[in-house]
Amino acid sequence: MTQITLVQGDITKQRVDAVVNAANSSLLGGGGVDGAIHRAGGPEILAECRKLRASHYGKGLPVGQAVLTTAGKLPARHVVHTVGPVHGGHAYERGAELLASCYRESLRLAAQAGDRVVAVPAVSTGVYGWPMEDAARIALSTVAAELARGPAAELAEVRFVLFDAAAFQTFAQVRDALGLDPRESREG
Ligand code: APR
Repeated sequence: MTQITLVQGDITKQRVDAVVNAANSSLLGGGGVDGAIHRAGGPEILAECRKLRASHYGKGLPVGQAVLTTAGKLPARHVVHTVGPVHGGHAYERGAELLASCYRESLRLAAQAGDRVVAVPAVSTGVYGWPMEDAARIALSTVAAELARGPAAELAEVRFVLFDAAAFQTFAQVRDALGLDPRESREG
């Protein structure tokens, strides 16, 4: 049974197999999680992202999709870059589906790469402005559904890494409201 855990901290410090990056379509870095991952992971990550742009993703990575690269100097095997929807950039239902797709596709790629423990951020809740509670509901319900079937069922742990106490509390409240097994969450 795959564990869903919540921790408060810095995603670049997590000793996991895969780290999910809240990227933008350019795949060429940015602020927030993206900036932190490139800073901590080093230039190898960007070099692979550039190769992806020069080959399969000439127009950039579409919203809701994901790609896998090396993790460079991070304590992980892979980084999975995904592009979240900008809040208000789409009709609500479409945006919510795109956000769900970020988690679905990221877990699929990590599982297919043989990764077992995956750290995920609260995609779209920073620069992209998605309200934390709604993003938590979409993220947790999507991940729980994915772990019940398909390649993600092979994962040992999906670890939501929340950057501050408010985000952590919101995710914990939503987790409880969804009736996800609290035993599976490790706090702090
Ligand atoms: N570890 C974990 N979470 C973090 C970290 C970190 N080191 N840094 C920021 N966060 C949190 C933010 O507090 C927010 O809750 O990650 C969440 C996502 O915020 P952003 O990183 O701003 O990502 P997003 O809202 O998806 O916007 C993506 O921002 O950084 C640019 O290049 C990126 O253009 C893209 C856009």
